[in-house]
Amino acid sequence: MSSQLSRPESLALAALSLACATILANTFSGEGAGALIASLALSGLGFAASYAMIRWLGPTFIKAGLRGRDMAKLNNKDMLPECMGAICAVVYLLIIIVFIPFPFYKDIVLATSGGGNRDVVMNLDYVQKGRLLHKFPHTKLASYLAAIISLQFITILGIGDDLFDIRWRHKFFIPAFASIPLLVVYFIDFGVTSIVLPTFLQPYVGRELLDLGFLYYAYMAAFCIFSPNSINILAGINGIEVSQSIVIALLLAFNDVLYLITPYPHPATDSHLFSLYFLLPFLGVSFALWMHNKYPARVFVGDTYCYFAGMVFVMVSILGHFSKTLILLLIPQIFNFLYSVPQLFGLIPCPRHRLPHFNARSGLLEPSVTKWEDKQPKPLIKDVLELLASLKLLRVTKDKDTGRILETSNFTILNLWLVWRGPLREDRLAWEITAMQVAVGLFGLFVRHKLALLVFRADNWDLGSAV
Ligand code: UD1
Ligand code: MG
Repeated sequence: MSSQLSRPESLALAALSLACATILANTFSGEGAGALIASLALSGLGFAASYAMIRWLGPTFIKAGLRGRDMAKLNNKDMLPECMGAICAVVYLLIIIVFIPFPFYKDIVLATSGGGNRDVVMNLDYVQKGRLLHKFPHTKLASYLAAIISLQFITILGIGDDLFDIRWRHKFFIPAFASIPLLVVYFIDFGVTSIVLPTFLQPYVGRELLDLGFLYYAYMAAFCIFSPNSINILAGINGIEVSQSIVIALLLAFNDVLYLITPYPHPATDSHLFSLYFLLPFLGVSFALWMHNKYPARVFVGDTYCYFAGMVFVMVSILGHFSKTLILLLIPQIFNFLYSVPQLFGLIPCPRHRLPHFNARSGLLEPSVTKWEDKQPKPLIKDVLELLASLKLLRVTKDKDTGRILETSNFTILNLWLVWRGPLREDRLAWEITAMQVAVGLFGLFVRHKLALLVFRADNWDLGSAV
């Protein structure tokens, strides 16, 4: 891949950057829509910066040892740059930091003696002590800062993982530390730890709300561990890490917009605006990465991107108070994780790579397998494997004469899809999985806002309760 941008690319990126910079210069005027437009403009700048830097820094990353071989290609002698998600993460963090003053512009003017108060004559004592800082929404700022700390932490972890290839058992729980700032802010700012019980359960429990207390924080911390890891293990074919993340981010943003277009200011408007401020730049940098990572990949995203993406989702959902909605959007990832459990927890051998196998003759992907030649699964596990095979949830190849298991397909949704659909081209598989993610996500949102009314008294979008 040439590390230089082509002329049309340079022109398009320059035009986009100029347009975004102009819009940005004109929006430093207020909260609400002004900040949203600024966020959009910064996202455009983030796209342009990531796009150019992914291209320029590719050779530098390869030289630094951050490189990988594309395992599903015929001529894969060339190394591709790995860990390019680190560029996106850094550009993203810069954007979010530059963005901080925009949503607070009015508050800053109000809380300090600048702006509107300039013509008021004040004595020195008043200026020192009387700054209206108590009017400044400190908890809102705390949310921003906690979000930034969490994302920085997860980025460091991701880069460390890409550099040193940390074993997954060791790195699995580290995102829990990144969750602490989020949970502290949640505790101070919101603190709701009760869940609404479905109507059919209410007569038995005798109340509408069930307070989970400490368990609610444990649930959110677990979610912080789960989300980044779940994106990372639904990986291995060109483009799939980024395309699933883009779909989830778009659906979350769509859900946010639903709250913004309600006719009256909704109690949840602020938290959904907050969510949009973090999702739009994420989409900007992700599109730039996707254009380089889609089939045939010119760069790899690295674990940095997967962890970072997963953390963005869980962060906006915790601080935006809609973590249950995110669960509905992560159904394919949850399925992939649960399906992977036998291999992740060592019940069945787990090779270093479980990505689909590239058949060089046909040029198509087939399920990759774990071989059982010299040893056999324990009787109970063998029964389960055979049961899964009969349910078409696994491919098991047996020796016709002895009945010994020779190989079983690896436990990932990508391999399972190939078991169902037969061999597929890599780009075709990526599109089908992405389409499935869109369909399941839209269904999830439908369940969230419409079907939930069957088991809950109200949908907060219609009613106006913030929980
Ligand atoms: C996770 C998966 C592993 C899968 C890998 C692929 C688990 C427990 N781990 O491991 O099974 O094989 O992701 O990303 O499920 N690669 C390609 N084509 C692609 C993407 C990646 O060939 O489209 C290869 C490249 O050699 C790349 C490497 O995979 O360098 C990246 O693997 P890495 O992200 O380090 O693997 P893990 O996240 O540890
Ligand atoms: Mg990975």
